[in-house]
Amino acid sequence: MNPVADPGNLVLGIETSCDETAAALVAGGDRVLSSIVSSQVDLHARYGGVVPEVASRAHVQRIVPVIAQAFEQAEPPVGQAEVAAVAATAGPGLIGALLVGVSAAKALALVWDVPFVAVNHLEAHLHAAFLDEPDLELPAIVVLVSGGHTMLVLMQDRLRYRVIGETVDDAAGEAFDKVARFMGLGYPGGPVIDKLSSRGDRAAVDFPRAMLHDGWNFSFSGLKTAVITYLRHHPDASAEDVAASFQEAVADVLVAKARRAAAEHGVKGLCLAGGVAANSRLREMTREVCAADGLAAYLPSRAMCTDNAAMVAAAGWWRLQADGPSTLTVGGDPSSGLPGNY
Ligand code: KG4
Ligand code: ZN
Repeated sequence: MNPVADPGNLVLGIETSCDETAAALVAGGDRVLSSIVSSQVDLHARYGGVVPEVASRAHVQRIVPVIAQAFEQAEPPVGQAEVAAVAATAGPGLIGALLVGVSAAKALALVWDVPFVAVNHLEAHLHAAFLDEPDLELPAIVVLVSGGHTMLVLMQDRLRYRVIGETVDDAAGEAFDKVARFMGLGYPGGPVIDKLSSRGDRAAVDFPRAMLHDGWNFSFSGLKTAVITYLRHHPDASAEDVAASFQEAVADVLVAKARRAAAEHGVKGLCLAGGVAANSRLREMTREVCAADGLAAYLPSRAMCTDNAAMVAAAGWWRLQADGPSTLTVGGDPSSGLPGNY
């Protein structure tokens, strides 16, 4: 059956928590009809990072055309009258940026007389893999790695999960971005380091693997400092080798802990989520470890790893079934925690 034919299951998702203005139409929590992402990366690149005020202004300019595009490109075609709910990321993220998406979503929900659903950005990342693989089997260990967060999550079902480890300092993506900035590679650093690494020797420099055998938390700040110190002492070092060795150290710690967590909790698979999940070496290592341990490897497409609104619409659909609509008094919450944490 065409899921769109079922009234009440089409969600318009809106994402504006950082530097991507995104809108998507998703039916039944898992079927993506359209997913539009307008990246502001060019606007922020010359500052070496996201400038909150610049981000908010760009969201204001782009949000209406991006939502219009989501309808124009929907396959099968759908109209506004078929939307059953509007979901928007309400946090965590940059407050000015969040408010643009939340205000747009509330206005549309009010005009269309449909529920508004406030979505947690990290919970949305947890739902992304299911859009590529609706049959993803739970429980699974999710490695949620983005520019702002690094978490090891034991996911029991779509709305019930436990954060078993997180970074005590820098997020993995932040480490990529900071190392890239020091190396003069521009912003965002992850994709550039990833590309450079493909031509480098990952065993060239033995960078530290902090807390590798010690609990479930992560630390990337010492690794970042080690790379910077190495480059200061070896100004002629090959950028490719340094990038590949750094990337290897990050992937090593993430995958080693995820593998150990999978064994300890007896789960069926490992799943990657968040922008850093687009990293080639992290994906390769996850595949290798899963093959060796008899685990399923759930590696969402790059488009689903980085910020997008399809994952927001999916999480919104599940939240709506479980908790009902959010009130229109909900605002942006820059530091909101994960709602399904038990
Ligand atoms: O999830 P995301 O799009 O936004 C946040 O919620 O933070 O993640 C962005 C982060 C940035 O730090 C970026 O450098 C990193 O993801 N990233 C990567 C790659 N692509 C994006 N890191 C490593 N390798 C990549 N290929
Ligand atoms: Zn994100």
